[in-house]
Amino acid sequence: MNDSHEILFDEQAIAKKVEELASRISADYAGKELVLVCILKGAMIFTADLMRGLTIPAVIDFVQAASYGDSTTSSKTITIKQNIRIDVRDRHVLLVDAIIDTGRTMDQLLRKFGACGPASLGAVALLDKKSRRVVDVAVAYRGFEIPDAFVVGYGMDCAEKYRNLPYIAALKTDQAQGA
Ligand code: IMP
Ligand code: MG
Repeated sequence: MNDSHEILFDEQAIAKKVEELASRISADYAGKELVLVCILKGAMIFTADLMRGLTIPAVIDFVQAASYGDSTTSSKTITIKQNIRIDVRDRHVLLVDAIIDTGRTMDQLLRKFGACGPASLGAVALLDKKSRRVVDVAVAYRGFEIPDAFVVGYGMDCAEKYRNLPYIAALKTDQAQGA
């Protein structure tokens, strides 16, 4: 990567944290089958690694959300660009995102899937920008809490770039504004 950035979590640190989360989830859902709902595109790499770390049966599906409106106002709403195909009724569902920022995406997706009658519903996020939270959303499994910086890598992008970086880095502010 040529742009100026600071590595926050290298491959080893990420792998260790993902393994920890997978172990906790495997223990908590022992004896059950899990439906992992990967929130595209940012969570694709995290979900793949998390799923491989699980010791319980798991199936995967994908949802893509788009947000419209001014992100600085509470009127911002999420629309579903691509929905899951699996029927989640009476199943144990975990929504997986790479990062929780204001909390709006996860909050609105939890409401949508909650209305579909799952046996249980929870949320996982590798990163949590807690200081940016606007909506108080319950995220049962959180990897790292990070300060208010724009991060890329390990699936996360800035204008679609950098998703392929194996580490997670904070972009300098001038580039982050192009996100
Ligand atoms: P929220 O709805 O404000 O919580 O935002 C969550 C979504 O915004 C995530 O699914 C990401 O797609 C995106 N996002 C938030 N912060 C970052 C970041 O620092 N880097 C890359 N994407 C981010
Ligand atoms: Mg993005």
